[in-house]
Amino acid sequence: MTLVVDEVTKHFIARGQEVAALSPVSMTIETGEFVAFVGPSGCGKSTLLNMIAGIFQPTSGQILHDGTAVLGANRQVGYMTQMDSLLPWRTVEQNVLLPLQIQGQSRGESAERADALLRMVNLAKFKNHFPLELSGGMRKRAALAQLLVYDPGTLLMDEPFGALDAQLKLVMQGELLKIWEDTGKTVVFVTHDLTEAISLAQRVIVFTGQPGAIKHESRIELGRGRDVFKVRFAPEFHDYYETLWAELAPEIHKGEEL
Ligand SMILES: Nc1ncnc2c1ncn2[C@@H]1O[C@H](COP(=O)(O)OP(=O)(O)O)[C@@H](O)[C@H]1O
Ligand SMILES: [Mg+2]
Repeated sequence: MTLVVDEVTKHFIARGQEVAALSPVSMTIETGEFVAFVGPSGCGKSTLLNMIAGIFQPTSGQILHDGTAVLGANRQVGYMTQMDSLLPWRTVEQNVLLPLQIQGQSRGESAERADALLRMVNLAKFKNHFPLELSGGMRKRAALAQLLVYDPGTLLMDEPFGALDAQLKLVMQGELLKIWEDTGKTVVFVTHDLTEAISLAQRVIVFTGQPGAIKHESRIELGRGRDVFKVRFAPEFHDYYETLWAELAPEIHKGEEL
């Protein structure tokens, strides 16, 4: 499922003022690719994901998913937003089942699928717990199971591990890489953490400050089957980091002057 972003811009009207969130952006993301977006806060990363998910439309340009223009809710993507979307009054299992219930799928098969995913993310024992009874890491695992439950071909992930402590972040990154390698899904991953972007992605795209445009992209040739604990010590890792940081840092500093 190739994802084509074709000269997409987005303007918002906020408090009577027009805000340019995204300059014309074009990119092609191949099926099964893992791409990371990095850029200063406010450069339109979440806006772009929202448009890929079909939550709102570009001001100009278009987004094609597998050759079809995304004009409404894009059912081929699973979207993990910056906010935890678990409902506090539903158990872990009921939360994971929610997307299937919305699609009107039968209860029996859905429950089997939810159980399998909860085993995969090591949460089987907690399926009857409520989100407030879970640690931050467990909530992320539950959100990951929910993201995967209807088997979308493309995963959109917006700073999914941003709030986790360093150790837990590594564990979740490792699990995500394994899921990606096992399933062949396309992943579009937004992060402000360059180490995370280089550790996970095959391609890192750097955005300029607002209105966001693509400034630079690097292919990360660290292979598949990466060990997120070890990959950061590879000599090439530092080269990628330096190149990307040289592109990203001025954009962040520009924002600070505003
Ligand atoms: N729904 C909205 N209404 C008005 N302005 C918005 C809306 N969503 C985002 N923006 C503005 O668009 C710009 C880009 O936001 P966002 O995509 O959230 O950036 P990022 O995710 O890169 O931090 C910001 O200036 C933000 O205030
Ligand atoms: Mg954002």
